[in-house]
Amino acid sequence: MAHVPCAVVRGWRIADLDATGLLCSDSFPQYHSTAPVLRAWRNSRKAYVATVADKVVAFMLVEDDESMPDDAAALLPCVYVWLLVVAPKFRRCGIGTLLLNEAKTRAEVTAGGRVVLQVDQDNPAVSLYEKTGFRQYSEGVCDGKPFYLLVCSPNTKAPISVA
Ligand SMILES: CC(C)(COP(=O)(O)OP(=O)(O)OC[C@H]1O[C@@H](n2cnc3c(N)ncnc32)[C@H](O)[C@@H]1OP(=O)(O)O)[C@@H](O)C(=O)NCCC(=O)NCCS
Repeated sequence: MAHVPCAVVRGWRIADLDATGLLCSDSFPQYHSTAPVLRAWRNSRKAYVATVADKVVAFMLVEDDESMPDDAAALLPCVYVWLLVVAPKFRRCGIGTLLLNEAKTRAEVTAGGRVVLQVDQDNPAVSLYEKTGFRQYSEGVCDGKPFYLLVCSPNTKAPISVA
């Protein structure tokens, strides 16, 4: 892993709207909108960015109330990671891990330490989640794509992979 010594995590601000909108549309073309970012605007205390030299290079959106997918809401109290994206140039430098640590810190305060997220089974991000302590809670299919529902908490020990 390359090291980024000066990556800083902070809360999302309205001034981050364009930068975070671009991050989302570049990495998730299926959104075709700034909806996730506007959602962050409305719930700014639940959105985080990572910056390098004051430039926004990553964005994470979390929820910790009922406004999350039903599967995850069944695991409340928890912090649900709705969206995590790192700019391509800054990937594999530990920034995704840094933001997930922020979600875990929030969860320690609001949700007994439990963090939940959903990931397509073929997304390479599964490796990141496995490495950072997430384990499979369940699996399903959304829009024809198999996904895992993953949980990270002091009580999750089984591996993500299924036979
Ligand atoms: C997934 C994503 C957020 C990872 O962010 P990142 O900053 O690159 O992650 P980190 O540098 O903290 O990765 C830590 C470890 O996770 C694993 N990992 C991360 N990305 C990986 C990948 N693409 N392939 C395989 N392993 C990966 C590695 O073990 C890595 O350690 P290493 O670099 O020493 O091998 C980033 O690739 C991204 O924005 N992807 C597009 C959006 C996306 O798919 N988001 C997840 C939706 S659920």
